[in-house]
Amino acid sequence: LGTAAEAFAPSNIALCKYWGKREAELNLPINGSLSISLGELGSRTSIVESDSGSDQVYLNDKLIEPTDRFATKVISFLNLFRRELQQPVVIKTVNNIPTAAGLASSASGFAALMLAINDFYRFGLGNEVLSAFARMGSGSASRSVFQGFVEWQKGLREDGMDSCAQRLDLEWQGFRIGLLKVATGAKKVDSRAGMQRTVESAPLYQAWPEQAAKDLQTIKRAIEDKDIELLGQTAEQNALSMHATMIGSWPPLLYWQPESVAAMHRVWELRALGVPVYLTMDAGPNLKLLFTAEYEAQVRDAFPELTDLDLVAPFG
Ligand code: DP6
Repeated sequence: LGTAAEAFAPSNIALCKYWGKREAELNLPINGSLSISLGELGSRTSIVESDSGSDQVYLNDKLIEPTDRFATKVISFLNLFRRELQQPVVIKTVNNIPTAAGLASSASGFAALMLAINDFYRFGLGNEVLSAFARMGSGSASRSVFQGFVEWQKGLREDGMDSCAQRLDLEWQGFRIGLLKVATGAKKVDSRAGMQRTVESAPLYQAWPEQAAKDLQTIKRAIEDKDIELLGQTAEQNALSMHATMIGSWPPLLYWQPESVAAMHRVWELRALGVPVYLTMDAGPNLKLLFTAEYEAQVRDAFPELTDLDLVAPFG
């Protein structure tokens, strides 16, 4: 057995969203999804043998209480692989995603943890199997095993082993993402609970799987053609349609804050001036802007709160 392992995985932003599980234990999705990974922004996870006789979990250099939700999730994920080898370990995760961007880190966190587990226990698994396993920690983690544009196939098998992601062989040098943090606070319903509520109670959800399947194909074509209008329009409509299903749930699920809506209007105003900038949003109040390098100056002017760290060039 290894005595130490370390791995990095990027965070990712879905352009065609994963929303709804057909099986909740394994995080098997109702629809396929497509994302862009955030290059050097993500999670770095290390595993070393513990000499204290018990497991220890650190997040951003702070020791986490073993009873804390984060620590129990990490340890129960590890236990899927550790099984009878009850060797205690120290697991440290450091996220370099600007906390100001308010990005969830479970995707990069579970992907980095899975890669580190593969190394630590010398499993020698291939990337697609690692993706399927990372999915069991958090669905979107299946996509964080890869850089670039990534497609997560929903798969058909009951054991989920065909529900894994693959890197698309497509590059887009000028593609840019802006991480726009607009609000904090407001206690949120996590994705798992949000999806369950939507699937169970939102009549609008019935239209979602078909729209998502169509959007995924359109987005692939838009990436191939480097067509920012087609990509942006499809990704924005996909995200807002997902939010429409959430809003149509009972009790209603609205992740937006007043500041989110104000920022959406700013995006639309900028677009009305001829700048091809689009938005996407996940299960929270913040926006991600989609645009190309030639319009970076205009986007920065309109959103002065974006720092260098909030602007991501996924292909360097
Ligand atoms: C809105 O992957 O966080 O960000 O599988 O329950 O851990 P679990 O959910 P998670 O959901 C992500 C939802 C989303 C859309 C997306 O990233 O595709």
